[in-house]
Order: sequence, then C-alpha cells, then structure tokens
Amino acid sequence: MFAKRLERFADNDPAIADAFRLAMRGVAATVNIITAVGPDGEWKGMTGTAMTSVSMEPPTCAICVNASASVCPAILGSGMFCVNVLSADDAELAGLFASSARRELRFATADWSTDPHGLPYLASAQAVISCRVVRELEVGTHHLLVGEVLHSAVARPAKPLVYCDGRYAIPELL
Ligand SMILES: Cc1cc2nc3c(=O)[nH]c(=O)nc-3n(C[C@H](O)[C@H](O)[C@H](O)COP(=O)(O)O)c2cc1C
Repeated sequence: MFAKRLERFADNDPAIADAFRLAMRGVAATVNIITAVGPDGEWKGMTGTAMTSVSMEPPTCAICVNASASVCPAILGSGMFCVNVLSADDAELAGLFASSARRELRFATADWSTDPHGLPYLASAQAVISCRVVRELEVGTHHLLVGEVLHSAVARPAKPLVYCDGRYAIPELL
C-alpha cells in the first residue's frame, strides 16, 4: 500500500502540471520509434510512447508528436508515419532516438529497411505499423495524429520494452 494525497487545485494553478507530470511518470508505456520520410527523402525518427490503438474497424491508431520534434514536419508533409514497437533488446536504440545529441547515428545503428510504402522500419522491432494520417489536431505543444493502418507486421512471442518512472524496463508476462 502507499499513501496518496488528493489535492484540490485552483484553475490554472501551475501545480496541476506538476501533479500531472508526476502521475504520468508512473504510467508504464510500450516504447516505439516513430519514423517518417522528409521532403528530400531523408529518414526521420524519434522515440515515442504516446501511441494507442483507436479502432479495429477500420484499423486505426494515434500518436502524439511534439511540434519541435524533427520527425513532426516529415509526418505532416508526407501524411505517413510508421510505428516501430520496440522489443526489450532495443533499449539502447530507444535512447539514441530520444536524444538530439547524436541524430546522425540513429539510422546508422541497427538494421533498417523500407516497408512497401517507403517508410523506414526496424528489422528487430516487435511489430511494425505503417499508417496514413487521416486526422490531425494541435493540442498545446503537440500534434495528435490519427493514422489509418496500411500495413502491419509482427514478431512473436511478444517481449516488449516499456518505460516507467524515467527508466526502461522489461515486463514479466503473467
Ligand atoms: C521514453 C520516451 C518517450 C517519449 N515519447 C514521446 C512522444 O510520445 N512524443 C514526443 O513528441 N516525444 C517523445 N519523447 C521525446 C523525444 O523522443 C525526443 O524529444 C527526441 O529527441 C525528438 O526527436 P529530435 O531530437 O529528432 O527532435 C519521448 C522520450 C522518451 C525518452
């Protein structure tokens, strides 16, 4: 058991954002690398946990991408993105795609190919989901992008990489 303190905030109280950030730190999420192709054919990518399925009819998923991320204009310009669901073996790669420090190493590391839609995909990914953007909404600093699934490939058994409380983790399946 743990103690939880419920606070009542005034509207626009900056403490709301702090409490929300802390709450989200404890939300475990599967780690993905979102990829897209820029206007000159250059590959772009970033580590992203903000991904969810939306509907099976038609197959649809959604991602949230910061407007400042280098992959964002590539997705908005091409109208396409690929979700590479990472396996537990790719924690180091996740770190590379989550830091702008060594962008040039991103696609030079690991085994990347192009899917039938020309999108970069990671050979070692647990699953690959290629999407066409069908809805787009600006929310604060981010773009909420809804994608119709065009192509999906999966490796079994599932051995996902997750992120929780600021650290990568490998969940034990019950
Ligand atoms: C575990 C993890 C999950 C992340 N999830 C997202 C996300 O869902 N959306 C987002 O815009 N940035 C996310 N980020 C931040 C980006 O990966 C990071 O800002 C990246 O450097 C952006 O790419 P860029 O350097 O090419 O602009 C996440 C970072 C980490 C470490």
